[in-house]
Amino acid sequence: MLVILDFGSQYSELIARRIRETEVYSEVLSYRTTAEQLKQLNPKGIIFSGGPNSVYDNGAPHCDPAIWDMGIPVLGVCYGMQLMVQQLGGQVERAERGEYGKADLFIDDPTDLLTNVEDATTMWMSHGDSVTRLPDGFEVLAHTHNTPCAAVADHARKLYGVQFHPEVVHSKGGIALIRNFVYHICECQPTWTTEAFVEDAIREVRARVGDKRVLLALSGGVDSSTLAFLLHQAIGDQLTCMFIDQGFMRKDEPERLVKLFAEQFHIPVIHVKARDRFLAQVEGVTDPEVKRKRIGHEFIRVFEEESKRLGPFDYLAQGTLYPDVIESADTNVDPKTGERVAVKIKSHHNVGGLPKDLQFKLVEPLRKLFKDEVRKVGRSIGLPEEIVRRQPFPGPGLAIRIIGEITKERLEILRNADFVVRDEIAKQGLYHDFWQAFAVLLPVRSVGVMGDQRTYAYPIVLRLVSSEDGMTADWSRVPYDLLETISNRIVNEVEGVNRVVYDITSKPPGTIEWE
Ligand code: XMP
Repeated sequence: MLVILDFGSQYSELIARRIRETEVYSEVLSYRTTAEQLKQLNPKGIIFSGGPNSVYDNGAPHCDPAIWDMGIPVLGVCYGMQLMVQQLGGQVERAERGEYGKADLFIDDPTDLLTNVEDATTMWMSHGDSVTRLPDGFEVLAHTHNTPCAAVADHARKLYGVQFHPEVVHSKGGIALIRNFVYHICECQPTWTTEAFVEDAIREVRARVGDKRVLLALSGGVDSSTLAFLLHQAIGDQLTCMFIDQGFMRKDEPERLVKLFAEQFHIPVIHVKARDRFLAQVEGVTDPEVKRKRIGHEFIRVFEEESKRLGPFDYLAQGTLYPDVIESADTNVDPKTGERVAVKIKSHHNVGGLPKDLQFKLVEPLRKLFKDEVRKVGRSIGLPEEIVRRQPFPGPGLAIRIIGEITKERLEILRNADFVVRDEIAKQGLYHDFWQAFAVLLPVRSVGVMGDQRTYAYPIVLRLVSSEDGMTADWSRVPYDLLETISNRIVNEVEGVNRVVYDITSKPPGTIEWE
C-alpha cells in the first residue's frame, strides 16, 4: 500500500483515488503521522500532498524528519515538494510570478518518474512559492516557463518532488507519472481489485462477528445494498436486514427493493411498514426543521422498537465510507475500548444519534472504499444500475419536497409527479445527465383551464440540477422539448396539478432541496 500524508490539500483524497485506480491500495493520513507509526504500516511509498501554507510560515505543517531516512520512496506534490526541499537543506521562496492553471512542462530527464510523459505536456499548477535551491543530491527533471524546478529528484534516495498536480484531470501526463511512481519506483503490485476486496471483506467480517447477530438498516441506496450483499455472503442468516418504510419513498420503491433482494439475492428483508406513524408525526407541521426532526426522531423510535423485537443484536452494520473515516479520524471512537461506536445511522437520515442504551458495536466493511469503488463492488455483485447509479435521495424522502403540510392526498400528488419526471428522463436516456432530477409540490393553488373547466390546483416545481458533490449545484440547461413533455404529462397524468414551473436557481444561493 501507499500512504498519502495530508498537509491540508483539497486534493488529498483525489491523490488516494488516483493511486487506487492503478489497483494499489492507498490511505490518507495526517501529516503528523510519525516515522515510527509509518513503519508499522509498512507502506511501499509515501506521497506528500499539497497544502494551503507556505513552508516558511510560522506554524506551517512539517513532517517527522525521520521519514527521510526510512529508505521508503517519497513523492512530494506542490507544498509536499517544497517541504521536502526545505527540510533537506534547499531553499523555497516567494516566486516572482506565481503560476495558476495550465502550464507546459519541459522535460530535462525523461527517465524513471517521467518515463512516458510527453515533452511539453500540460500540467496543472497552483503555487505562489518556488524552489530556488535544491538540497544536495537533487537534480531537476523538468521545468516550465516560470518554474525552473518543476520536477526534481534525488534518485539515490528515491525522493521525488513535483510542483504541479499530477492528480487533477487537467494534467495530461499525470496518470503516467503516478503509474511510474507506483509501479517502477515503489514496485507495487496491482492487488487492489474488486474481487480481492470482496474476498478480504468477507473474511474480515467473519473474523470480527463470529457467531453473533448483525442488524442492518437497508435504505435502498448503493451503500446499504452492497453492504447487505457482502454481509449476507459472509454470515448468512446471522444478518437481519430491515427496511423502515416511512411512507416518503418514491412510487413502488419499497416493494421493488424487498422483492429484488428476495428474488435476486435470496436475502430476506423485513419490511417495516410504518407509514401511518410517520404521517401522524408530521400532521399539521409546516416548518421544515420541525418536519425533519419529527421524522428523524420517529425513525429512531421505530428502529429501536424493531431492533428490540427482532434482537438482541450485537452488531450494527453501517455503510460508512472512506471519506467519513478521513473526516472523523479521531472522533466517534470509544476512548475505553478504541472501538468505533454508532453516533448516527449513516445515509438513512441525518438526525441525532442512537439512544445511549442502544449501543451496538459496528461492522463497517465499506470503510476503506470511496463511493466510486462501492459502485464497482455493487456492480460486480450484480446490483442493478438503478441502484448502483441511483441519484441521491434525502433520508426524509418526499416529505421535504412537499412544501407546507403533508397529507396523504398531497403525498400522492407529489409521488405521481415524481414518477413522471423519473419515467420521462429515463425513457429519453437522460437519467445520468443529472445529479438529481425531481419534483417539488407547492402549497399554493392557481387557476387554470382544462377542457371547458376552470381548475384551481397545485403547481409542481421541476428541479433538475448538475453537481459534482452536492455542495454546489447548477440548474440544468435542458431542451425545451423535455420540459414541455414533462409538463404535459404531469398536468395530464397527475390529478390535482394544473401548472408546472422550472426552478432556475443555482446553489448557492438556493439549496438543491426546497426544505
Ligand atoms: P441541499 O438541499 O442542502 O442538498 O442543497 C444537498 C444534497 O444533500 C441531499 N440531502 C439529504 N440527504 N438526508 C440525506 O440523506 C437529508 O436530510 C438530506 N437533505 C438534503 C440532497 O438531496 C442533495 O443531494
